[in-house]
Amino acid sequence: MTLKSNLTIMFVKLSKHKKSLDMTTNSIFNTEKTIKLGIWGLGRGQSFINSAKALNINVVAGCDLHESMRARFLKNCPDAFVTPDEDEFLARDFDAVLIATYCTDHAAHAIKAMQAGKHVLSEVTAFFTPAQGVALAEAVEKYGKVYNLAENYPFSVENMYLAKLWREGFFGDLAYAEYEYVHGVGRAYANPDGTPLEPGNRAHHWRGWLNYHYYCTHSLGPVMVITGLRPERVVAFPSDVQNYGVIKGKGRKIDGILPSLGAFAPSLITMSNGGIVRNLMGGTTADSHHQRLFGTKASAEMHPLKIKVGATGSSFNIAVQPAWSEMGDLAEKAGHGGGDFWELYYFARQILTGEKAPWDIYASADVTLAGIQALRSAEADGMPMEIPDFRDKTVRDRCRDDNWQQKHIDPDRIFPDEQRLAITNDFSPAMIALNRAATNVRKALDAIRVFHVALPEDKSKIIELVKSVRDSIPEYAVTYARARRIADAYPDSQGGRAILEMLVDVGAEERVTNTNALVAELNEFLLRK
Ligand SMILES: NC(=O)c1ccc[n+]([C@@H]2O[C@H](COP(=O)([O-])OP(=O)(O)OC[C@H]3O[C@@H](n4cnc5c(N)ncnc54)[C@H](O)[C@@H]3O)[C@@H](O)[C@H]2O)c1
Repeated sequence: MTLKSNLTIMFVKLSKHKKSLDMTTNSIFNTEKTIKLGIWGLGRGQSFINSAKALNINVVAGCDLHESMRARFLKNCPDAFVTPDEDEFLARDFDAVLIATYCTDHAAHAIKAMQAGKHVLSEVTAFFTPAQGVALAEAVEKYGKVYNLAENYPFSVENMYLAKLWREGFFGDLAYAEYEYVHGVGRAYANPDGTPLEPGNRAHHWRGWLNYHYYCTHSLGPVMVITGLRPERVVAFPSDVQNYGVIKGKGRKIDGILPSLGAFAPSLITMSNGGIVRNLMGGTTADSHHQRLFGTKASAEMHPLKIKVGATGSSFNIAVQPAWSEMGDLAEKAGHGGGDFWELYYFARQILTGEKAPWDIYASADVTLAGIQALRSAEADGMPMEIPDFRDKTVRDRCRDDNWQQKHIDPDRIFPDEQRLAITNDFSPAMIALNRAATNVRKALDAIRVFHVALPEDKSKIIELVKSVRDSIPEYAVTYARARRIADAYPDSQGGRAILEMLVDVGAEERVTNTNALVAELNEFLLRK
């Protein structure tokens, strides 16, 4: 079934469902059946616990390698079973698994869960290589279990409203869209709960190196769900400029190492109607989630949402504030603008009623492959790439052994093999502290430079920021010294270079270590401002 027909059914049934709710049943799905859910990966995975309660889904088991994550899970679900051992976890009696393990491992984990007889809601992205995607699609077909991708951005109130208008023909055909997920990469050195990695002499399992093209579902996903179109071809240029403080190789042309989440990753995608989408992801110095959608009859942009009517360049621009037609109270409480509620809702609905959710395995493959093929295009200096359609078995055959993947740094070896662990194991905690200190210093010093032209309300914010940074400078100096010790020991290592960039290029190390002079300078600003 196509993405479009799934979506059409979804909205028809939503209105039917409203009637059944009105007929006073205490079950959201008008059934006595419930779902027993296990959560595999207890960082992001725990964001779904409250929505699960609202949907009569019982969270009965959890699995995570990290003790701190398991302890937090037991606080949230005291009666649940929890283990670090995935086999012990999957052997338990429950119906469905929410997979929120490392991004690059989802296909293997989804297949293993289906083999164990569980339905799967997999966090983004669906798989890491085309070959894994083929294996996953065939496992879904073989085991007959429900498989959904937990791509949540299409289900914000604004995007759901745009989807409704789109289906009514309001926008006409897709001419062009720009959707983006431009979001900094603060967590390349920490666990999901912010605690340092252990051992600390490495970068995060995947956030430490993954190229942003892979993480393309939050921007392309909404366009696909709104328009019902699939991506067919993609082109991208290589981007070698990376943010300060991220672990890097020597560059695409020297050692073939492609940038991490600390670089921009724009691509242009031809959709199945011939329209074009600019899909932009990026690790950045300024997060943004701009979205623009141009149909042949009308267009829209956000945030906030504005609908432009009149099919002309000088169109009438209407600011709108849509609301959910139902269950808004439940969706409002969930993360990501309600998207976290709706994706769990559709998954539960498909298990309990058989009604298809938007992100079946084929749509999940489309959106995931668009990122893989974009990176491949960038590596090939902008050669356009087909986005294979896994609904077609002959296409799958072509991709069955396609194990192409990003050449990347080894996150476990960012210091020399003969490193002194007494020094390098402090990398993760020191980098977490340095990141906070150095970016705060940069914020304050640069805000002062534009203070004289700032608006009054921003002037007050700058003053508060400068006061807080001034008071923290002595503590920051200690943090800088702690990080400097590691960099001085291994200045040519990937870890050492990342520290040096944070210290020198971002953190104005020379000024912070000259603590009294910097405090005096900030006081001087506060006096004369
Ligand atoms: N849709 C969204 O808005 C959204 C938001 C955040 C994260 N995510 C996705 O969720 C996933 C998890 O992200 P995260 O933020 O929690 O960070 P993360 O990738 O650091 O966390 C993964 C967690 O899974 C655990 N884990 C990994 N392999 C395991 C295994 N074999 N057995 C048991 N536990 C294992 C790790 O210990 C870790 O706690 C990622 O794929 C990410 O893309 C999606």
